[in-house]
Amino acid sequence: MATAMDEILSLAKRRGFVFPGSEIYGGLANSWDYGPLGHLLKQNIKAQWWKFFVQERADMVPLDTAIIMNPKVWEASGHLQNFSDPLVECKACHHRFREDHLLEARSAEPGYDKEVPVRIEDMPCPNCGGQFASSKNFNLMFKTFIGATEDNSSVAYLRPETAAGMFVNFKNVLNTTRRRLPFGIAQIGKNFRNEITPGNFIFRTREFEIGEFEYFINPADWEAIFEMWLAEIKRWWQDIMKINMENLVWHEIPDGERAHYSKRTVDIEYKYPFGVKELHGIAYRTDFDLIRHQEASGEDLQYTDPVTNEKFIPHVIEPTFGIDRMLLVCLLEAYHEESAPTSRSTSSGQAEEGETDKRVVMKFPSYLAPYQVAVLPLSKKPELNDVAKNLANELRKHWMIDYDETQSIGKRYRRQDEIGTPYCVTVDFESLADKKVTVRDRDTMVQERIPISDLINYLQEHLK
Ligand code: GAP
Repeated sequence: MATAMDEILSLAKRRGFVFPGSEIYGGLANSWDYGPLGHLLKQNIKAQWWKFFVQERADMVPLDTAIIMNPKVWEASGHLQNFSDPLVECKACHHRFREDHLLEARSAEPGYDKEVPVRIEDMPCPNCGGQFASSKNFNLMFKTFIGATEDNSSVAYLRPETAAGMFVNFKNVLNTTRRRLPFGIAQIGKNFRNEITPGNFIFRTREFEIGEFEYFINPADWEAIFEMWLAEIKRWWQDIMKINMENLVWHEIPDGERAHYSKRTVDIEYKYPFGVKELHGIAYRTDFDLIRHQEASGEDLQYTDPVTNEKFIPHVIEPTFGIDRMLLVCLLEAYHEESAPTSRSTSSGQAEEGETDKRVVMKFPSYLAPYQVAVLPLSKKPELNDVAKNLANELRKHWMIDYDETQSIGKRYRRQDEIGTPYCVTVDFESLADKKVTVRDRDTMVQERIPISDLINYLQEHLK
């Protein structure tokens, strides 16, 4: 399976989905930039997420809060004290690792006897075989300074999650929107964690985006609402992201392994080429966060039930989604290699025929694909170009359109397959006379002759 990841990495770089960060300066380890196609794909994933979890629901309100907040927020949330991972350092080469990752890898080794406890002191360093010193906790918060003075009074932090912005604005949102429980506050935004061992491409990075919502409830209803969100999350993966549901693992976190404030947590894991690991999660956080912020800020964060007049601190169910991990899963699920007729030049209106070769095709759902349609004039001759460019401009009013006029039409089809464009529209010399174009379907490779006057209707129907 290792190759699947190599192929995704190579395609991502070659076609402009994801570039290594700061590449012309030798890069910056584990930092990545989204290229033109990656940006479009990410925008589409976020737009679908927003539509599904926010726009289409009457019980959700949006928010967009600051990345740098008053440090008291992180004191109250427990991040300054507890947001840490166990770090071990090799005494010989001074490489640093996450202790839990090393122990997890060790216990997954074939023949490993799970009855024998592994001690990090007994494990050789994977880099040099040296010995580890005992582990210590490493805080993941990114520190910075506000203003011109770099001293303790100006210390601030980049947020490690978007959730805190929603908790500290709970009262503002309640007062301005006059919502009743249950309701949610949602946001998508950048987050920063000084991870000890980032890696696996965009799976674990130090700068990443989260889409999450805090769903405020009466605690009496928590079990039913948790189930409702689990069902919605399943619907998201099945109906919108259209992934193979067998690649998901629903990991119920047992008692004793959950965060102390959580009464139920389910990690939604994915079978990545590098192992089964977390994709995103859902947690019942009880009233932990609002109580902490109420105590630390002195603000009354209670809710008054308009029917019973009962006053209480709402409880929270929090579904959280790593946008970059969703994008990685989207790439992995879309990637297909098929044997298909060679990409040698075929005139439009005909099937691609002849000998076969490997076709790489990204089978994104059409609304996630970076481009929905590519317009391809059969030749660069001005009479074709003018028609094709005007057509592309018309289509741009509806969808993201790519325009490609170089090399054989077969090669251009393959290029569009590789970036997942659902439809190619070829303008040929016959188009000038019969006012028709050839529309080619990415997945079936079937080509149809469609009157230009019907093209937008045709595409609207097929891209639904
Ligand atoms: N408010 C809850 C929260 O932040 P989390 O599990 O720590 O929960 C949410 O993070 C999601 O963010 C994870 O489920 C994962 O998808 C994503 N994520 C976490 N750390 C990440 C990292 N270093 N790089 C990329 N994505 C990450």
